[in-house]
Amino acid sequence: MRVPIIAGNWKLYKTTAEALDLVNGLIPLVKNTAGVEIVVAPVFTVLGDVGRAISGTNIRLAGQDCFWEEEGAFTGEVSPRMLLDAGCNHVIIGHSERRQYFGETDETVNRKIKAALKDGLTVLFCIGETLAEREAERTFDVLKRQVANGLTGIATGQLNNIVIAYEPVWAIGTGKTASDTQAQEAHAFIRNQVAGFYDSETAAAIRILYGGSVKPDNIKGLMAQPDIDGALVGGASLKADSFAAIVNYGA
Ligand code: 13P
Repeated sequence: MRVPIIAGNWKLYKTTAEALDLVNGLIPLVKNTAGVEIVVAPVFTVLGDVGRAISGTNIRLAGQDCFWEEEGAFTGEVSPRMLLDAGCNHVIIGHSERRQYFGETDETVNRKIKAALKDGLTVLFCIGETLAEREAERTFDVLKRQVANGLTGIATGQLNNIVIAYEPVWAIGTGKTASDTQAQEAHAFIRNQVAGFYDSETAAAIRILYGGSVKPDNIKGLMAQPDIDGALVGGASLKADSFAAIVNYGA
């Protein structure tokens, strides 16, 4: 059974006071939620405070990125070990905004995934095509390349600690969600790729999240798709009530 994950990517939002307001508002709204893994990914500077606030609750903590070295002269970077130290169990890697604005490539994403796995973090590995790629009918080629290159050199046993997040770039922050059918088609394709690179058992076990304008009113339809195992939520995760409504989609 694939346990669904609903993760909130707070991106570059929320100071300490705002982050604590959000998470303290969220805790009571999801405290009785069972059968869903709940994850929040705040900015690095508030990880410690948010981590303390959610300690003992059913909410888990994620970093939004990490570097591939443990430590060293790498000004501005944060390593998997530092994320663990701050209370994280998860890390988002390869988000399209990092690929678009910070020069991340399949190769750097792969190095980061390996480093995070080595230190015991669960990786939320993001992939997804741009609008131009979809319009040029290159979606499946892009997804295939991102999966193949992102997972290069990663052994079957390590896939337990990887969650794939399919986020079509054209659906992020635009209010344009992929239709349930479009999302399902991409998820089934990704699962098939994993079956091809690994085996069908591994593919059946890996969780694939959808991301891109997920809201309380479209989560149910997405979650009803056989290959959608949760969501990576941006904008709607910045308010306790809307994120809780997404987390509690099954209630
Ligand atoms: P939105 O939900 O704001 O479209 O963002 C999605 C996303 O990028 C999550 O990582």
